[in-house]
Amino acid sequence: RIKLPQFNTIDDAVDLILKSHNIVVLTGAGISTSLGIPDFRSKDTGLYSKLRHLGLNDPQEVFDIHIFREDPTYFYTVARDIIPSGDRFTPTHAFIALLQQKGKLLTNYSQNIDNIEAMAGILPEKLVQCHGSFATASCIECKYQVPGEAVFPDIRAGRIPRCDKCIEGLRRLKAPNAMKRKRSANGEKKKRRFDNDSDSEPEEDYDIPAAGVMKPDITFFGEPLPDKFSDRLTGHDVDKVDLVIVIGTSLKVAPVSEVIPYLPASIPQMYISREPVSHVNFDVDMLGDCDVVVAELCRRMDWELKHEMIPEN
Ligand code: OAD
Repeated sequence: RIKLPQFNTIDDAVDLILKSHNIVVLTGAGISTSLGIPDFRSKDTGLYSKLRHLGLNDPQEVFDIHIFREDPTYFYTVARDIIPSGDRFTPTHAFIALLQQKGKLLTNYSQNIDNIEAMAGILPEKLVQCHGSFATASCIECKYQVPGEAVFPDIRAGRIPRCDKCIEGLRRLKAPNAMKRKRSANGEKKKRRFDNDSDSEPEEDYDIPAAGVMKPDITFFGEPLPDKFSDRLTGHDVDKVDLVIVIGTSLKVAPVSEVIPYLPASIPQMYISREPVSHVNFDVDMLGDCDVVVAELCRRMDWELKHEMIPEN
């Protein structure tokens, strides 16, 4: 794509935002780092730089669905550190919410799984969580879905969350001659007969490891994106969008990275992030801390960006 020659300064960015009514905002992990949540690919601080000890060929494999099915412990050792906590959001989330409040937000396509956009007040109909989120979790066997928080205690305690529906099914299958495997005190697996009296049966008598594993509804590598992603993009946004703002993403992961070339080349595109990307030709690059950049944009537009993390002048 050839840059649109008429737009290239921060004041052009301000003019574009002021005159646009249907802005597509595409976000990545960089918009949450000021809350202490690591991004993925920053050289020394990104999550992937800290996973060498897991011994995977590629750290992205912690989010690979085939690996998860084989051994969910890789994901769960990492998940403990990335599950959302608290209800805080950043000035950049507040900026996107402000675009919505001003009637300018067409859609926020977020690659983030922290579900913080929802906390900042981005309406569900304006939000596409392209890679899913921790908001819900499902059993990988029977698809039983629960609110994400229901599996957080297990994740925090270092346990693999199991499906209550499957456990219930196993319980119902319990018959006088049903056999189960149970670990003896010395760790050996033994066959043991179920007790027939359910009231007297202690919880550990159920073969919990046979129940399905719960997985937060994050889109892993090897899984399709939610239908809403392509439905919204191709059936709604492509003909309406009048400005694209990309914030805090390295644009390394398809198909989200393909949103930019898919949208009409005549639509102005701007980029806010710490580092430039070489594979996309943005009209305006605003490089730096995104919270600082959006605060400056708001200052120039005379918009009040209310947030406790913005230092007062
Ligand atoms: P990356 O880690 O690849 O990129 C984040 C970008 O944000 C980098 O270019 C950083 O320089 C920049 N950045 C970090 N903090 C910033 C700040 N405060 N202000 C401005 N820029 C900042 O993360 P994503 O592009 O989001 O997939 O990664 C895309 C996908 O790859 C993720 O959704 C994830 C991962 O594998 C899944 O979880 C399935």
